[in-house]
Amino acid sequence: MSGRRPLRVKRMAWEAPGVVSVDLVAPDGAALPPWEAGAHIDLHLPAAPVRQYSLCGDPDDHSAWRIAVREVPGGVVSGLIHKALRPGAMVEAEGPRNSFPLVPSPSYLFIAGGIGITPILPMLRATQRMGAQAALLFCAKRAEDAPFLDAARGLCKVSLHCSAEGTRLDVAAALAAVQPGTLLYCCGPEPLMKAVEAAAAHWPDGSLRFEWFAPKARPDSEGAGAFDVVCARSARTLRVEAGTSVLSALRGAGLDLPSSCEQGVCGTCECRVLEGEVEHRDSILSASERAANAAMMTCVSRAKGARLVLDI
Ligand code: FES
Repeated sequence: MSGRRPLRVKRMAWEAPGVVSVDLVAPDGAALPPWEAGAHIDLHLPAAPVRQYSLCGDPDDHSAWRIAVREVPGGVVSGLIHKALRPGAMVEAEGPRNSFPLVPSPSYLFIAGGIGITPILPMLRATQRMGAQAALLFCAKRAEDAPFLDAARGLCKVSLHCSAEGTRLDVAAALAAVQPGTLLYCCGPEPLMKAVEAAAAHWPDGSLRFEWFAPKARPDSEGAGAFDVVCARSARTLRVEAGTSVLSALRGAGLDLPSSCEQGVCGTCECRVLEGEVEHRDSILSASERAANAAMMTCVSRAKGARLVLDI
């Protein structure tokens, strides 16, 4: 993982009502680390919680990283960005990190809701460069609320669906027929993502990929029990009590593991699982990755049984 780096705001621009893009550059003009479509950075603003933002510029442009931020009512960080951040200001960022990578395929179907277009936009560029087939179902309240709509239209076939204009996407109908050999990538508000998840449940395992900006709601009853974690590399066994995360237990024992969101959405705290069955509570791993039981997000996921052996 890269460390925190200072960045200067080079440019800000309105992309839709309530959505601003921010271009970040190295203060000395140096090239920034490379990234691939689907990657995000952790943005640190003074006296504000850290937030993850997808990189939505061109991965081939190493001179700047572009993010886009929707102003969320009551949102501390988005409010600061919209109301106080201006070109010339300094921020800090960690990453990039990619928990939503574009897997090579001859054909893609993308579904984006509003600001959910941000991780998908570089994917459209990548699919165009690789000569793959790509289509985008883009959902917004109105056409003017769809950020980067013109850019998306320049990269693939776009079907725009506007709830306030009577063209809301019929998710079930759109996904009723499995498109063989097609990978489905979706990012947007939770109701859209959950509708897509349900409507595409009959698609082949591994063909669906989601980027959750906020954790999926889960029942409170999950994760109630205590269990042991065996740290294979350090040959230590720790008790993880109910109400404590694996990450906290590791840190309490002086074992450092990087973390960022601590909500199971960013992938920073991922750890390899050597033994034991995981109760996955994150919003990142696909059904097949969960079933493989090879990795877990230690900030939220727990043991199904009495014991887990981790590669730490
Ligand atoms: Fe983000 Fe655990 S810290 S998934």
